[in-house]
Amino acid sequence: MTLQPPTTRQPSPLPSREGLGVGLGRGSATMIKLENIKKVFRTDVVETTALGGINMEVKDGEFVAVMGPSGCGKSTLLNILGLLDNPTEGRYWLDGVEVGSLKERQRTLTRRGQIGFVFQSFNLIDELTVEQNIELPLKYLGVPAAERKERVEEIMRRMAISHRAGHYPQQLSGGQQQRVAIARAVVVKPKLVLADEPTGNLDTKNGREVMDLLTQLNAEGTTVVMVTHSQRDAAYATRTINLLDGMVVEHTLL
Ligand SMILES: Nc1ncnc2c1ncn2[C@@H]1O[C@H](COP(=O)(O)OP(=O)(O)OP(=O)(O)O)[C@@H](O)[C@H]1O
Ligand SMILES: [Mg+2]
Repeated sequence: MTLQPPTTRQPSPLPSREGLGVGLGRGSATMIKLENIKKVFRTDVVETTALGGINMEVKDGEFVAVMGPSGCGKSTLLNILGLLDNPTEGRYWLDGVEVGSLKERQRTLTRRGQIGFVFQSFNLIDELTVEQNIELPLKYLGVPAAERKERVEEIMRRMAISHRAGHYPQQLSGGQQQRVAIARAVVVKPKLVLADEPTGNLDTKNGREVMDLLTQLNAEGTTVVMVTHSQRDAAYATRTINLLDGMVVEHTLL
């Protein structure tokens, strides 16, 4: 399913896409394309093939669930998609740009400005308040203070977390922490949200809230790729991709 980007999306704090020198995205219907992506982890004694040659595409506006048994390579795949790790082999196009061709600075800008991450363990910074945690990605992008304040307030309202703005992560429930983590992931208005078992540490009610938020973001045009072990969560997606031993074994349209 392809949805149009929301018309309310604010101007990107990034340099213009042309400025990145890579002609990102306009009119491109494919958000992610992977060609023969391999990842081998090597230590002195062992070599682990985490991904054995992944070919896949995710269209702009899709909501894809990645499933498969523990150790099959799901997090490795997500880290590569999120530019947190490099493949050993293969090519990856993000919104029409082959990321292997990006210089380090462009790669960092792309990661910070276009991709939002949500992790199972929330990964908030303990020493920062809710508000400061959410503000951080905007600081990294050099967004001016007044605009940061406005955007942080808007997203806190949306994630129903405004009443905890001055709290620290340890003072929040798991569900609240994950809402803050989602706020932090989407405050930059990324095109792509990557979520690695976002409900793995939550009870059913909080898990459902998180899934509802991801569904809303997707309905507004954000592409979502989510790793999950839960059939219930996968049912929110429009397609599942099943991995086994580092290979795609099945695509299922939901
Ligand atoms: N940094 C690393 N160094 C060495 N081996 C690694 C590293 N990261 C992952 N692996 C190995 O790669 C394989 C895939 O790991 P990955 O974390 O991607 O699995 P997963 O599908 O996310 O599993 P889970 O469902 O348990 O989170 C595993 O065999 C793992 O041991
Ligand atoms: Mg994992």
